[in-house]
Amino acid sequence: MSTHVAGKFNLENAPRLDSKERINWNNPVEIVDASGIGVGLRVAEIGCGTGWFTFEIEKRVRPRGMVYALDMQPAMLQILRAKRENWERILTLPCGENEFELDSEEVDLVFHANVLHECAEPEAHLREVHRVLKAGGSLALLEWHWASEESQPGPPNTQRLEPDETHRLIEAAGFEAEPVRDVGPFHYLIKATKK
Ligand SMILES: C[S@@+](CC[C@H](N)C(=O)[O-])C[C@H]1O[C@@H](n2cnc3c(N)ncnc32)[C@H](O)[C@@H]1O
Repeated sequence: MSTHVAGKFNLENAPRLDSKERINWNNPVEIVDASGIGVGLRVAEIGCGTGWFTFEIEKRVRPRGMVYALDMQPAMLQILRAKRENWERILTLPCGENEFELDSEEVDLVFHANVLHECAEPEAHLREVHRVLKAGGSLALLEWHWASEESQPGPPNTQRLEPDETHRLIEAAGFEAEPVRDVGPFHYLIKATKK
């Protein structure tokens, strides 16, 4: 029986999230650098998947910070945990579509990569992101540009979010968003501050 959850990244394709070539178009060092993650921060990574970015985030927050790695699909969290024995600065947490088991204002920064286009209710989802951030906390959100070539990786264009629309959704959830910037050949990053 298939375990696929409609609209969500298919678990059967989980190895694609860790493909060798991905380093060329979603370099964790470059993207985590651009997100402003540093020592001692409490970071919630929403939709962490198999942990492509998680371990790089953990490296940056050590020795005092914490990474809460959340995903709606617990099997993704299992893959992440199996990658390494020593991950005491990472706490994996299953979550709901728009519901995170974190207190209000619990984290300094939310890292959100390649997830918003899978969200059934992006506005409600971003309001939950807003809730868990402390006042003045930061959001770093990465998404796919529209594909110019059929052969490029990622979801079909019909599932992608235009940068202007993502920017609008982020501001509507109560953030002050910075201008959209490109990262790598296929993605854009929007950084925002909780008002
Ligand atoms: C395309 S994968 C990206 C995983 C990871 N961020 C990366 O870039 O490698 C999207 C992930 O987001 C999760 N997801 C989708 N909607 C979600 C939601 N509303 N809340 C939390 N996680 C969600 C999926 O289960 C999946 O693991």
